[in-house]
Amino acid sequence: MCGIIGYVGPREAQKVVIDGLRRMEYRGYDSAGIAVVGEQGLQARKKAGKLANLETELTAQPLASASFGIGHTRWATHGGPTDGNAHPHLSASGRVALVHNGIIENFAALRAELEDEGVGFDSETDTEVAAQLVGREVDGGADLADAMRTVCKRLEGAFTLVALDAEQPDRIVAARRNSPLVVGVGEGEMFVASDVSAFIEYTREAVEMGQDEVVDVNPDGYAVTDFDGAPAPSKPYHVDWDLSAAEKGGYDWFMRKEIFEQPKAVADTLLGRFDPNHQLTLDEVRISEVELKTTDKIVIVACGTAFYAGLVAKYAIEHWTRIPCEVEIASEFRYRDPIITPRTLVVTISQSGETADTLMAVRHARQQGAKVVAICNTNGSTIPRESDAVLYTHAGPEIGVASTKGFLTQVAACYLLGLYLAQVRGTKFGDEIATVMAELESMPAKIQEVLDRQDRVLALAAELRGARSVLFLGRHVGYPVALEGALKLKEIAYLHAEGFPAGELKHGPIALVEDGTPVFVIVPPQGRDQLHDKVISNIQEVRARGARTIVLAEDGDVEVEPYADVILRLPRASTLLQPLLATIPLQVFACEIATLAGHDVDQPRNLAKSVTVE
Ligand code: M6R
Repeated sequence: MCGIIGYVGPREAQKVVIDGLRRMEYRGYDSAGIAVVGEQGLQARKKAGKLANLETELTAQPLASASFGIGHTRWATHGGPTDGNAHPHLSASGRVALVHNGIIENFAALRAELEDEGVGFDSETDTEVAAQLVGREVDGGADLADAMRTVCKRLEGAFTLVALDAEQPDRIVAARRNSPLVVGVGEGEMFVASDVSAFIEYTREAVEMGQDEVVDVNPDGYAVTDFDGAPAPSKPYHVDWDLSAAEKGGYDWFMRKEIFEQPKAVADTLLGRFDPNHQLTLDEVRISEVELKTTDKIVIVACGTAFYAGLVAKYAIEHWTRIPCEVEIASEFRYRDPIITPRTLVVTISQSGETADTLMAVRHARQQGAKVVAICNTNGSTIPRESDAVLYTHAGPEIGVASTKGFLTQVAACYLLGLYLAQVRGTKFGDEIATVMAELESMPAKIQEVLDRQDRVLALAAELRGARSVLFLGRHVGYPVALEGALKLKEIAYLHAEGFPAGELKHGPIALVEDGTPVFVIVPPQGRDQLHDKVISNIQEVRARGARTIVLAEDGDVEVEPYADVILRLPRASTLLQPLLATIPLQVFACEIATLAGHDVDQPRNLAKSVTVE
């Protein structure tokens, strides 16, 4: 939701902080701010709007040289995106500067308590309460880490906090509960940040922070404790990607770069999944085979694009395992009292591993005794840490707010999970599993073929740039693809777009079709899918009402030709694997139409990459 960074070391703190914020701006871009401590004491600058506004401010009012500092890029929750509400917030004495990601739920009571003591507030944020409380502790003589621990014990909700004290130099203290925080370990320098992209330029050695922990960093090292001050075990790891993965590499947008990274992302997700005995393996499984054999229901829980990946996966998982599979939006899940038992397997899908709604679903499911498998792209993030098993998608960092390679790799990972369950439960023979795996392994080359055909899609975007509304139709696994195509268009092109099951249209939504309405239709494989002809009928229904039909059909399918105004061809694939191809032209289309409209594709309005509040 917000991106936060802290630095201590020999480099110019301002540069490290601003560069880190630039790489994390996808997490929030309503305002940005920095505080450093140098020879002139604590200095802070903050500005509403994107990071560029802060940089302009820093040019107008430069900061003195400093070797430690903190920074923040914000997605507003409490208080609008103004200069005053931007972080860092300072304590009343001006000693402490603090940045925050999350929501402090009991801030109103704490603020009232401080106001009763005569503390004045400069902002409408929940964060300022934490800054004032930490300030009150250090003013009273507390060590900064002790102050942080004392304050954290009083806070409710979700928070990552990073603070510095002008009178305790070369030291930064950070804390986390329900919000991400990672430590970067350099040589004679240390970093804390919301994610590793903030410091990947300087070090690939990182340390996972556990729940309810405080880390105290100085240039020579770090110490992690729980909120009571007891040492906590730290979990160092090496980041398996480098700076180039966090840069645009010549593309105009991260989104476009990430679309083009999909062949590799899917290949990496599939890599090395068979052990020497030709058995499929997951990354970390703390669930026994007996438990997997007695599972009587699978519930997939996720948000947004990850939810649509789950909808695709349901078809494959039920087909291969014969276990009933439900797919649920995470923010709805625990509030409807779902029927979850120890025999339910809950599968969460999350690119970031930090989505608060999904995390709360994990906790709820485990409280009910269910086992949870996390499908996640972010090593060591909270959701996999709190799950019973993990299957990582190896997509590399996804920085564009609109998820692209996240979706394809999530579908691929769900399929691996489905095949793994089929293997454990014996619902598929080994050679059947190997056949599906072989087809999966052929997909990266086919994904590349789809990308090689992008010119047709780019031309289409130019042609349809004035459209007011776009519809997407699909059946079976094509239906979630239609939903994903519509979501992409909504979130980056700000266009009205809807995805429907093609057969459902005539039950109401067909009234939306006007003369010239663009309707994308995903057509199942010809001759190998019972729904092929039905979808052709659905195309005719909308065409008869004036729709401009854009048909995604596989190579050689001539039956669609009379009914298509435009055909976007896909390489041949089986029905269940077609989403790995059919989604791509829809991603390219949304990216291009948003670019032509002059939108900031990577930082669409009102959105943030990781949604770490409920
Ligand atoms: O990090 P997650 O996969 O848990 O994120 C879930 C959704 O917030 C995310 O997919 C969102 O819908 C994207 N902006 C879609 O492009």
